[in-house]
This record gives sequence, structure tokens and C-alpha cells, in this order.
Amino acid sequence: MLKKLEDYEKQIQELVITSKDDLENFRLQFLSKKGIVPQLFTAFRDVPNEQKKEFGQKLNVLKDLAETKFKELQTELKSGGNTVDPNIDLTVPPFPTEIGTRHPVNMVRREVVGIFERIGFTVSEGPEIEDDWHNFSALNFPPEHPARDMQDTFFVAHPSLPKGGLSPLSGGQGGAALRTHTSSVQVRVMENQKPPIRTISPGRVFRNEAISARAHCIFHQIEGLYIDKNVSFADMKDTLLYFAREFYGPETKIRLRPSYFPFTEPSAEMDVYWGLETEADYRITKGTGWLEVLGCGMVDPNVLKSCGIDPEIYSGFAFGMGIERTAMLKYQVKDLRLFFENDKRFLDQFKAAY
Ligand code: DAH
Repeated sequence: MLKKLEDYEKQIQELVITSKDDLENFRLQFLSKKGIVPQLFTAFRDVPNEQKKEFGQKLNVLKDLAETKFKELQTELKSGGNTVDPNIDLTVPPFPTEIGTRHPVNMVRREVVGIFERIGFTVSEGPEIEDDWHNFSALNFPPEHPARDMQDTFFVAHPSLPKGGLSPLSGGQGGAALRTHTSSVQVRVMENQKPPIRTISPGRVFRNEAISARAHCIFHQIEGLYIDKNVSFADMKDTLLYFAREFYGPETKIRLRPSYFPFTEPSAEMDVYWGLETEADYRITKGTGWLEVLGCGMVDPNVLKSCGIDPEIYSGFAFGMGIERTAMLKYQVKDLRLFFENDKRFLDQFKAAY
């Protein structure tokens, strides 16, 4: 009798099943009302007294074993079972899978956005198809300004516009265009928010230019805007110096040169000092050692007025930079077109930077 119990125990331990039917057969054989385990409990009565203790213990062990095994097999079946081909070696390392990279334009965008987010700037976006008001008029471009010219701007037919409403000189009276700069977003932000405003607006912009190593008809910009009471030119310079040192390195030197933009007064361009040590430095900086990296200035009172902000109470600064241009400087890329071709050999070079 005891030997029988041990045999059953062994049988259960070694049992392998491959289907639901096998599982059911196991249950019927051992656990059902007329199965082996209940039958053994019935037989327990006839076991001679001196064997009862040992038999009883072994029988309980067998019962537990049968029940646990049943549960185990049930979960194993549910999770797909042990169907792995024993000839497959699961410990062999897989073929290396190539991991992609972020696009260099995205890497620069994320980095610049992060630098400004850390000092409290929000991120805002606007539409790529803009009206004349947000792209030009509200930004103080006079109607005859050359930037509105067909040669720079892609004007678009738009179903909501009257026929003939696409004139580049429409002066805010309609006319849709692919935005030529992300400065359009600062207008939208000022129209919709009350100062204090601190925001940066990354996005895609479009210009009707011949494609070359230095120009493209599509590129990306990041616009910055800061409006509050008593904002000064010195605040702007300090903010931009902070940015330059975060982005180009802690020792970076900057300079501001007077410039002109319709939407800022005074306007400036910011250069960073690149150095003049190698022949490449001479070429990149055209022999000056300095590189232009962004346009900036104090927001023109006319622009504030157009956007419903009182220039007697508030002042602020704005700046804008090209992302491709910034990436070209950072990664020493010589041809702008590379950013748009998605040639894997080019993109793979940014793996380390990522
Ligand atoms: N919108 C200018 C461009 O596309 C860049 C720019 C210059 C933006 C000066 C600004 C600014 O906000 O203040 O070239």
C-alpha cells in the first residue's frame, strides 16, 4: 500500500502535459470524486492500525501534491505552455538590434527649450499656415515691406478667403501664407495671455528660397518672448548670456551688435566668440572670430499695442534663432541640406551625442 502511494507521487511529479485534455485527464485520474486520491481516502479505513499514521501522512502529502500540480499545470497552459523547442538555446545572445537616434534638429530644439524652461519659460506653439496679421502686420511690418514679397513668402490659397485675397500687400486684410518666422507665435501669445509672459516657441518656418548649402525653403526656429513691468535691455542681455553659457559652454563670450527688425526697437544681433585658432575658425567666422547666433531686441511699443498690451505699463524683449543654424555650429555641419535628407550615414553620427 505504502509503495503504491510512493509510485503515485513519482508519477505526479514527472507528469508533463501538452494540452487541455491532458490536464482534464489528470484531474479525472487523481482528483475527481472517483479518482485515485478520494479512493485512497476510502481505502484508509482498511489500512492496518499500525500503518495508519504513516499512510495517513503520505496520503495527505499526495493529495497536496496532486492539487498543487494541477494548479501549476493550469497556469502553465494558460500562459502558452512549455512549448519551446528544446533544440533552441535560449541563452544565446540575440542579434544586436540597431537603436535609432534623435534627429540633430530635435536634439538642439530639446536642449534649447530645456535651458529656457529651467528659468521659467513656457513652451507655446502656433499654426504653420498663418494670416497676414500674425506673420506681418501685428509685428509692425509696413505694407510695402520687402519681406512680404512673393519672393520670400509662400502665399497659400485658402477656402475661407475671398478670391483675390492673396495679395502680399493685403496689409492684414486677409491672405494666408506659410509662416516665414516663429515671431508670429509671440503675437498669438500676447493676444491670449496677460503679462507677465515668458515663453519660447519652437517651430517650422517656410521661405521661398533657392535650396543651397546655407539656405532651405523649410527650416526651424525658436522664438523667445519676455513681457513684464520694467523689463530692460540689460535683462535681455543677461538672459541671453545665460543661454549662451548653458548651450555653448560656461566660458562663452557674447556681444550684441545693433541691427534692425520691424518688431523690435532697439534691435540687435547676438554673436558668440568662436575663436580664431584654426583655418576652419577663420572660414566659419569669416575671419572675425565671432559667429552670429540670434536676432533680438526690445519689443516695439507698436507691437505691444497691436496685441492689446499697454506699452506705458509693460515692456519686454524678444529673440529668435534658427535651429539648423545652431545645430550646424554645434556639430560643425557644413551643409544645411543634410538635415533634410535623412541619410542614415549622417544621422548615425549623432548616436554619441544622444
Ligand atoms: N523673426 C526673425 C527672423 O526670422 C528673428 C528674430 C529677430 C526674432 C529678432 C525676434 C527678434 O523675436 O527680436 O529672422
